[in-house]
Amino acid sequence: MDSTGHRPDDRDQSPVPYVFPPWVNQIPRVIPLAAVALGIVVIGTVWFWFSPKHTEVGYAPKQPVAYSHKLHAGQLGIDCRYCHTAVEKGPHASVPPTETCMNCHTVVKYDSPKLELVRQSYQTGQPIEWTKVHNLADFAYFSHAQHVAKGVGCVECHGRVDQMEVVRVTEPLSMQWCLDCHRNPGPNLRPKDQVTNMAWTPPEGTDPVAYGNQLVEQYHVAAPVDCSGCHR
Ligand code: HEC
Ligand code: HEC
Ligand code: HEC
Ligand code: HEC
Ligand code: HEC
Repeated sequence: MDSTGHRPDDRDQSPVPYVFPPWVNQIPRVIPLAAVALGIVVIGTVWFWFSPKHTEVGYAPKQPVAYSHKLHAGQLGIDCRYCHTAVEKGPHASVPPTETCMNCHTVVKYDSPKLELVRQSYQTGQPIEWTKVHNLADFAYFSHAQHVAKGVGCVECHGRVDQMEVVRVTEPLSMQWCLDCHRNPGPNLRPKDQVTNMAWTPPEGTDPVAYGNQLVEQYHVAAPVDCSGCHR
């Protein structure tokens, strides 16, 4: 109510001519809507760049041979490094040559039709054409060696591969994802001799945060957050 007893928006009876057109009254109501709309646009943009669709979480291409990590790494318990031999030494983890498979399959299931392509490859020397699952942008530098050397487990970046029939991408591989861990690596660290143990958990009774932070100190972990750390 104003001093004349009229409501300010009571146009017909107000003695004061209105300076602003009536739609101005709608502005306060529209602001929250506009804010929400803007928020959606911002989130949507970030989402696009940093998220599954852009970076293909869930991507699980069919492979030429029905090789199963669930069987070999899970049930048979073969260590990741038996096949991914370069993972501690350089940028790429490497995919094993056919010879590695034939260490066992010259004897085990030698006649299996599922191994036909493997036997062919072994005889001709033509490598099996595995389809690449993970594809990091070329302009970002990544190396396995330093991560594994500082106690970042495979499972942090690849999920429970030992339970996968077909390997699938479990993390967005986006800049945000890298940075989230680099800013606070503690909870993602484990003793170096446990990097390939997919079922590892911090020792019973320890506080996981304190435990992780202690490893940060012990291993002198300093993950880069400056641009040139990853864009070289
Ligand atoms: C007996 C050999 C063998 C063992 C053991 C093994 N892998 Fe593999 N791995 C392969 C082969 C062959 C491929 C390529 C075919 C495929 O993607 O399934 C592969 C593919 C992968 C890929 C996807 C590569 C890409 O193209 O992006 C990841 C990730 C991976 N392995 C992680 C692991 C982890 C983690 C372990 C241990 C828990 C492990 N592997 C154990 C043979 C092995
Ligand atoms: C800090 C995250 C991280 C950790 C830890 C990690 N990886 Fe990877 N891995 C990646 C990324 C990112 C790629 C994609 C690299 C590319 O496209 O250049 C990748 C790719 C791979 C590939 C495909 C071949 C290649 O090197 O490009 C294999 C196989 C693999 N990882 C296995 C492993 C195994 C086995 C371990 C544990 C011993 C492991 N990774 C630990 C992030 C990680
Ligand atoms: C350490 C020994 C070992 C290595 C190395 C190994 N395998 Fe196997 N693989 C086995 C065993 C054991 C089985 C299960 C046999 C059974 O079901 O009785 C098996 C089963 C399989 C099968 C299913 C066969 C069927 O008829 O069901 C495929 C396909 C296969 N392996 C592919 C591969 C490929 C490809 C590689 C190399 C990247 C590889 N294996 C390396 C031991 C091995
Ligand atoms: C789960 C945690 C984690 C994730 C995810 C992760 N990093 Fe790292 N990163 C680390 C740790 C721990 C170090 C080790 C720092 C040290 O050497 O003290 C490191 C070191 C590095 C280094 C410096 C060492 C080197 O290899 O030259 C680079 C570059 C790097 N990371 C790039 C990346 C990129 C790119 C991604 C995303 C694709 C990524 N990291 C994802 C934890 C992570
Ligand atoms: C820990 C590693 C890391 C650091 C540090 C980092 N980046 Fe990135 N950056 C990445 C990765 C990985 C990608 C690829 C993301 C993708 O493909 O979605 C990327 C992508 C980009 C892109 C391409 C646009 C996009 O979102 O795909 C730009 C631009 C960029 N980074 C700029 C920067 C700048 C500026 C800094 C410093 C403030 C920086 N980055 C620091 C890892 C890093």
